[in-house]
Amino acid sequence: MNQVRKHIEAIQQAEQFVNESLQHAVPDVHKPSYHASPRIHWMNDPNGLIQYRGEYHLYYQHNPYSEEWGNIHWAHKKSKDLIHWEELPIALAPSEWYDKDGCFSGSSIEHEGKLYVYYTSNVFTSPQGLPDDLLQQQCLAISEDGGISFTKYENNPIIEAPPAGIGQNNHFRDPKVWKHGDHWYMVLGTKKDDKGKVLLYRSHNLLEWEYVSVIAQSDGSMGYMYECPDLFRIGEYDILLISPEGVRDYPLSGYYVGKLDYETGTYTHGAFHVLDDGFHFYAPQTMEDHLGRRVLIGWMPMNGRKLGKSWSGAMTIPRVLTLDEHNERLIIQPVEELIKLRTQHIQHKQLIVDSSLEQALPKLQGRRAELKVAYNLTESDAQEFGISILASDQREEETVIRYSVSSNELTLDCSKSYNGSDRVKSITLGQASDQLILHLLIDHSVVEIYVNEGERVLSCFVFPKESSNHFHLFTSSGKAVIDSLDFWELDV
Ligand code: FRU
Repeated sequence: MNQVRKHIEAIQQAEQFVNESLQHAVPDVHKPSYHASPRIHWMNDPNGLIQYRGEYHLYYQHNPYSEEWGNIHWAHKKSKDLIHWEELPIALAPSEWYDKDGCFSGSSIEHEGKLYVYYTSNVFTSPQGLPDDLLQQQCLAISEDGGISFTKYENNPIIEAPPAGIGQNNHFRDPKVWKHGDHWYMVLGTKKDDKGKVLLYRSHNLLEWEYVSVIAQSDGSMGYMYECPDLFRIGEYDILLISPEGVRDYPLSGYYVGKLDYETGTYTHGAFHVLDDGFHFYAPQTMEDHLGRRVLIGWMPMNGRKLGKSWSGAMTIPRVLTLDEHNERLIIQPVEELIKLRTQHIQHKQLIVDSSLEQALPKLQGRRAELKVAYNLTESDAQEFGISILASDQREEETVIRYSVSSNELTLDCSKSYNGSDRVKSITLGQASDQLILHLLIDHSVVEIYVNEGERVLSCFVFPKESSNHFHLFTSSGKAVIDSLDFWELDV
């Protein structure tokens, strides 16, 4: 059978399985509604993000056959506004010797009207396969019909191996491609001697690629493998995203702010910063849109929790990245298109939170909601205050966001969020100003917390009972003064 036919058949088979499975799927109270999530079964990394022919395309790692990782395809959604996503047929399926065990992560670029996608082809080199018996190479597929169907390039793989002594062929993946001057560039993640690395490649025609340099590497403290690198410019700076494996016991993605010298292939950068301080965020990718915005989407993994669901994983709301005034850290905000979802609005100004507040407030309720609260730190005298969300009436079940004035720490407490979770974590915020602004997005099981207009963000999954849809404002002692509170129900 010829290559094109084989690929089409592999996609048809996967689509048929997904559609049949959907007929038996039971509705799930935790399925996100305005966050992009799989129709059914497994979702991981965002891939190939691009605004192309006027629409945003989100491809993603997908197992059409199961709610667990494996048999990785590229599924496909598109959107006109980054908020409403339409599912399209699967774009890439394993169909060749080189990608028979997965079409792993990668990126896309438009060239002469066509869409080029670069992905990592994966082969298991022993029956065990994972974690190390792999052959990973870089491949190209091209679409001439607007990003719907792809033909794999006849000379795949286009990069067979990292340079000897620099990286390992069993962990060599996740090409991200961009154009600079007259050339195209690619970053790839790899490892050597259990240290993660990012490699830079260059091409004059998008087909032949030459190795340039190592632009980042772990000194041992930053993990044994770098996944999903992304490099892009904001203002005068080149931001490098990486997802290092092996730094902590739950997923970590972060970035450097630096400068890439394209002549010498050297990247100089400052300190590593965490991109998202929640428990469930990994493998983000970015694109630039027609407004010049740098838009990031991250994958929200469930970190191994299956919970008997027929689906797994979601994407964050697309986030706009800018640099802070010192050019040191990213400011991370949800795209403003989100306001399209807002329906019922409740607003309060100058609220005093103390033990009597609960009676005074019209009940806030919802599992698909947005809440923005600006606390006045100068006028508040409570030592601790915060918001309880997805809470039962008496708060036996709840997810808590708590601020401690003396330590300037924000705590995300999921210990009462759902059966089996014991996650609690605190982060120290930057220098306190007059206000603390908490901006929450809630979508059944997905929670995103934006702090101080993008200074920090925390993403997590929680799986509360359906009736746990209350919000409570609390203080541990004294009063908290709220300058403004805005609550919206969201509708898709
Ligand atoms: C990150 C990752 C990538 C890889 C893909 C496979 O989550 O491990 O490095 O390409 O997932 O699905």
